[in-house]
Amino acid sequence: MRWLVTGGAGFIGSHFVRTALTEEWTDEVVVLDLLTYAGNLENLRPVERHAGFSFVRGDICDPDVVAKSLVDVDAVFHFAAESHVDRSIESAASFVRTNVVGTQIMLDAARTAKVKRFIHVSTDEVYGSLALDAAERFVETRPVQPTSPYAASKTASDHMVLAAERTHGLDAVVTRCSNNYGPYQFPEKFIPLFVSNAMEGKPLPLYGDGRHVRDWIHVDDHIRGLRLAWERGGSGEVYNLGGECERHNRDIALAIVRAVGADESLIQPVTDRLAHDRRYAIDPQKARAELGFEPGPPIEERMAEIVDWYRENRMWWQRIKAGEYRGYYERMYSGR
Ligand code: NAD
Ligand code: TYD
Repeated sequence: MRWLVTGGAGFIGSHFVRTALTEEWTDEVVVLDLLTYAGNLENLRPVERHAGFSFVRGDICDPDVVAKSLVDVDAVFHFAAESHVDRSIESAASFVRTNVVGTQIMLDAARTAKVKRFIHVSTDEVYGSLALDAAERFVETRPVQPTSPYAASKTASDHMVLAAERTHGLDAVVTRCSNNYGPYQFPEKFIPLFVSNAMEGKPLPLYGDGRHVRDWIHVDDHIRGLRLAWERGGSGEVYNLGGECERHNRDIALAIVRAVGADESLIQPVTDRLAHDRRYAIDPQKARAELGFEPGPPIEERMAEIVDWYRENRMWWQRIKAGEYRGYYERMYSGR
């Protein structure tokens, strides 16, 4: 079987590719990735010599590159996206281009190439925000209500996928996952930013009152859910994948400083993100019942392992922090 993985040089896509090849989920993986600031070939080094691995540097918005990458492909796992909320607040244009237009180009090409299944990797952020004390959690039938430009662009892409399934009969499944953590996560995201800053003795910029809630899932549990969605999911269905691990940001920050052995005084409140969603909470019951999906242990049980990875792979994140990302960090956090 040949799989096309878009965005396979990013955090979650590369975890999927490394696992799919080493655990023999398939014999061939073609990665299509533009290598934006978030894409990094180092993430694929463990499989770069694998006989079934090939890499195409290209844009999902380029129909010719996409069509060539899809030759003889059985399934598409579509990860490629602009993925950081704060960047979408700075400028939404690349989010609409890649997440919406890029997804539409992928869908049209997948149909022409007669791909057997299209797995669209989406997010719980499409549902919007819950009150801290709300009894409900996100279920797949909940109306979408995105607030950030990132979430709005992912919502639009979900609709394009479901429309292609209904209108043109493309076999497609949408998954909506909660916040991921794990190795190789780009250090602009909350956990790797706080872990790496704590290791460097730098401030940990906690937005607002720090009582925002996210549902945390290890990237390994997420990609196993994606495999199940490919194997057992119904076409045209949406599946929520979550860690059943809701935590306040402040508690995650405290767990990080303890695991790193840094001082709590590094945690510093900064001006809140615009329209910062208060709480995300995934109900994964449908995925559990229909796919056999089960989230793994809670984040506290994995914190030492995460911190160890970032400690042992200092060069990986130090190189990133010394590059293009530095300008973004200075713009984002100076005077906040
Ligand atoms: P990431 O930012 O680490 O990686 C994105 C990858 O897409 C990069 O390798 C980048 O080079 C590539 N890319 C961007 N634009 C491209 C284009 N035009 N053409 C080809 N490649 C392009 O993102 P991630 O955190 O690994 O997220 C992957 C997917 O999972 C995204 O679709 C995201 O919305 C979704 N998701 C992420 C999370 C999370 O917590 N990180 C949670 C739920 C869903
Ligand atoms: P993030 O990793 O950006 O994921 P998302 O916004 O997609 O959930 O942020 C996770 C949470 O951490 C979110 O509530 C915002 C907060 N946060 C901070 O408090 N400080 C930071 O520097 C960052 C990047 C995020």
